[in-house]
Amino acid sequence: MKNIKAIIFDAYGTLFDVNSAAEKCKDKIGDKWEGFANFWRNTQLEYTWLRSLMKRHRDFWQITEDSLDKSMMAFDIDSSMKSELLNLYKVLSPFDEVNETLKILKKKSFKLAILSNGTPSLLKELVKSNNLDNLFDDLFSVEEVGVYKPDSSVYDLPIKKYQIAKNEVAFLSANTWDVSGGGNYGYKSIWVNRHNNIFDKLDYKPDNQIKNLSELINLIKK
Ligand code: LAC
Repeated sequence: MKNIKAIIFDAYGTLFDVNSAAEKCKDKIGDKWEGFANFWRNTQLEYTWLRSLMKRHRDFWQITEDSLDKSMMAFDIDSSMKSELLNLYKVLSPFDEVNETLKILKKKSFKLAILSNGTPSLLKELVKSNNLDNLFDDLFSVEEVGVYKPDSSVYDLPIKKYQIAKNEVAFLSANTWDVSGGGNYGYKSIWVNRHNNIFDKLDYKPDNQIKNLSELINLIKK
């Protein structure tokens, strides 16, 4: 992948493990923790798409709480666990290779940024709690446009700020629909496919596919 000026990362699921909040409570939740974590994540994403279509925007923190309420009821989880799960969601763990890979890319002086559904304060806390705050040039949040991915006004944010061409951006996401959204917008797209999943049928195929972020170092050239 050549002529890349900026590398833009999705946050939830791509840099940070969205299941890590429920996983840290698996002793209390029991064997159903993983099904519960997946249900919570899927409900959260559905709410982003539905609210965007209904034009009834609420920020990602509200949506995370609303989807948690439904998921806790669906999985019969005691309501006393709600604040613990929400607090853990604020400090999700990054995947193992994230810190090292970002440091190497930073030295190669690419612009590095996050583009996420998360609110500005959530994103700030996520990178700070994981000591990643000095590695990013920008944390772009959908709150600037008040609509969720994959609306193209979201993918427009880095282009407006950096004044570069869409195909000078390498956009990475582990979320297939987000890869399609960014690629459809005009970014060079890279699907982070950690678990050998199947891609969507949305008239779009990613430009590249990697198993984890460390593969980026040889893949992306200036
Ligand atoms: C985000 C969601 C899509 O960070 O994971 O934008």
